[in-house]
Amino acid sequence: MNKVSIITGGARGIGAAIAHKLGTKGYSIVIADIDENAGQYRLNYLKNSGIDAIFIKTDVSSEHDVSNLMDKVYEKYGRIDVLVNNAGIGFSGRSIEEQTLEEWRRIIDTNLTGTWLCSKYAVKYMKNTGGVIINIASTRAFQSEPNTEPYSASKGGIIALTHALAVSLSKYNIRVISISPGWIDTSKWQVPPRTSNLSNLDHKQHLTKRVGLPEDIASLVSFLVSDEASWISGVNFTIDGGMTVKMIYIDENVIQNSLALLFDDYELSALIRRLIDKAKNNKEEIKKLLKEIVG
Ligand SMILES: NC(=O)c1ccc[n+]([C@@H]2O[C@H](COP(=O)([O-])OP(=O)(O)OC[C@H]3O[C@@H](n4cnc5c(N)ncnc54)[C@H](O)[C@@H]3O)[C@@H](O)[C@H]2O)c1
Repeated sequence: MNKVSIITGGARGIGAAIAHKLGTKGYSIVIADIDENAGQYRLNYLKNSGIDAIFIKTDVSSEHDVSNLMDKVYEKYGRIDVLVNNAGIGFSGRSIEEQTLEEWRRIIDTNLTGTWLCSKYAVKYMKNTGGVIINIASTRAFQSEPNTEPYSASKGGIIALTHALAVSLSKYNIRVISISPGWIDTSKWQVPPRTSNLSNLDHKQHLTKRVGLPEDIASLVSFLVSDEASWISGVNFTIDGGMTVKMIYIDENVIQNSLALLFDDYELSALIRRLIDKAKNNKEEIKKLLKEIVG
């Protein structure tokens, strides 16, 4: 009998790569996702890779759906060994004055309450055998751009929920660990797959010289759920190509903002920003013009 792993939000993106990786390690895979079409697509993909898998349509913020998910999995397989709480939604980026209570609740309900609900109902069965719960947080639990309050708060909550659960569930031999990914390019694992359109600047600002891939997170999950990681519980792993040990994320906006600070002149920084945009398509002409200016 295979061990059984449930991956929430496993139809696409990081969750899909985790599902595939654990499937290749011999787990039976349960994709629990709100998106039925994407779920069916991923199910076919996994089955075509020779992986034993099922899809159960689930909204992780619904207590009814989550309770039903765990009952169905136990009914079919008689065990739950691994739960990956990966389902999550982002935030549109509106200012705190414009954010609505409805938006706040939607994000907290999906990202944080969903993680709590899935853990609660999985434990009912996981405690028979022991197991591992992996919670996908984010580096945004520790650092923020402006206007990300609901998302950052939900991810910070996941970090705290992780150590609380780890302490409570150790009596059942259940380890609980969070992973905080940085910038992950999920194009290849979308439904249908997309072509990545990241720039050199996007990649090169990482210490590892590239944006992360879902496979990077899947490899860490695969290790953490294995017996080789049996002494690890209650902690968070940041996996971000080294980005958060740097003080800033560099992009054209950061360059412009830094220049505005340097010159104390917004107009000049905006002009240089426009020059940068022009130079992207016309390097030689801009170089010639600049040489005329600076000699
Ligand atoms: N991509 C990144 O750069 C990045 C960085 C840090 C953390 N994360 C986190 O990783 C996780 C996966 O992100 P991703 O980029 O792969 O996202 P994605 O949007 O590509 O995939 C998310 C999946 O979750 C499903 N989902 C959404 N709401 C759901 C709900 N209520 N119930 C069940 N399923 C639901 C979606 O249908 C989708 O299949 C999220 O928790 C996200 O916050 C992503």
